[in-house]
Amino acid sequence: MNSNWFLVMTVATLLLCCHYSNSQQTIPDDELQSAIFLIRQYGLPVPQNQSLCDPFYAGSNVHARFLKEIIDIYLYIIYLLPLHYLFMESSYFNSYTRIDGGSPSSTLTTLTMPALKSIHLDCKGVVVNQSINILKLLKSVKSLSIIELLYDTSISYIPSDFNNFPNLVDFQLTLDQPLIIPRTFLNNSVDLQSITIQFPVSSITIDDSLYFPSLFSDYFYSNCINGSHHINVTSKSFPKLSVFAINALLGSNTTVYFNLDPSDTVKKRLSEN
Ligand SMILES: *[C@@H]1O[C@H](CO)[C@@H](O)[C@H](O)[C@H]1NC(C)=O
Ligand SMILES: *[C@@H]1O[C@H](CO)[C@@H](O)[C@H](O)[C@H]1NC(C)=O
Ligand SMILES: *[C@@H]1O[C@H](CO)[C@@H](O)[C@H](O)[C@H]1NC(C)=O
Ligand SMILES: *[C@@H]1O[C@H](CO)[C@@H](O)[C@H](O)[C@H]1NC(C)=O
Ligand SMILES: *[C@@H]1O[C@H](CO)[C@@H](O)[C@H](O)[C@H]1NC(C)=O
Ligand SMILES: *[C@@H]1O[C@H](CO)[C@@H](O)[C@H](O)[C@H]1NC(C)=O
Repeated sequence: MNSNWFLVMTVATLLLCCHYSNSQQTIPDDELQSAIFLIRQYGLPVPQNQSLCDPFYAGSNVHARFLKEIIDIYLYIIYLLPLHYLFMESSYFNSYTRIDGGSPSSTLTTLTMPALKSIHLDCKGVVVNQSINILKLLKSVKSLSIIELLYDTSISYIPSDFNNFPNLVDFQLTLDQPLIIPRTFLNNSVDLQSITIQFPVSSITIDDSLYFPSLFSDYFYSNCINGSHHINVTSKSFPKLSVFAINALLGSNTTVYFNLDPSDTVKKRLSEN
């Protein structure tokens, strides 16, 4: 047997082992409790037990899934990591039929989902307990690379420390309610490329103390009136910025200062409704 063949055989065997052992693992309890919170709060059509990632239960709700991490050879190489890193890779809940799963825990203060990379959740305005702000629970899930939340009425404010997401690439928040954007919102999320904010922003400060080294596109609806905003877009804070678009809502009065170098490479769009 030549050595290449031996290597192929070994890799194949490791993959099988890995797949086998993974299918036997159970979701750690803290991670399961976090998932059960989401299932109840948003009426997700998923079982509240170890089968929550099982495609069988999704039935016709193909767009309502928790997904486990895709198995590949790298997992075997880093196999000595704690097993809970293997779970809950992605969650996608778009058009789903709600089910009543009971009251979400009101004592949960943080979501424990250390491998969660992506959350897409469109709850169509219905949450079970309106006073549990999902952003407050999500702010500690630093593994996230995609956050997309739509029409979540639990978001009555943005926590002042919703920032420092080292893996975040895409952030999208679409809401009906007007909100104040805290000064440090998403600050120092070094991989963040795109921010899309579709709700009336009633106050915002953008100055050169912010740090968005990868941000390519920034878009928001402004409901700012004279005095409720300070927007100074500098190359120091936004070295990669290419698109900066504000949709100014009726009656708002939004002034933007650009201090960009070279200034003509950024597509600026300030529209008034
Ligand atoms: C998980 O919940 C589903 C739906 O309630 C149920 O059918 C299934 O038997 C449960 N599985 C386990 C392992 O308890
Ligand atoms: C909703 O959550 C709040 C805050 O955690 C809690 O005080 C309240 O009891 C919860 N309401 C219900 C009906 O569980
Ligand atoms: C934003 O993050 C940078 C880098 O960590 C930090 O130096 C700066 O003080 C932060 N800005 C604010 C307003 O907190
Ligand atoms: C709007 O802001 C300008 C400059 O800061 C100020 O001079 C003016 O009085 C403000 N107008 C109102 C209505 O607040
Ligand atoms: C914007 O920031 C630049 C760089 O820090 C500064 O020179 C300029 O005075 C600021 N402009 C306003 C209007 O704040
Ligand atoms: C908007 O605000 C600027 C100063 O911030 C002021 O000069 C201007 O008159 C205002 N325009 C309207 C329509 O209120």
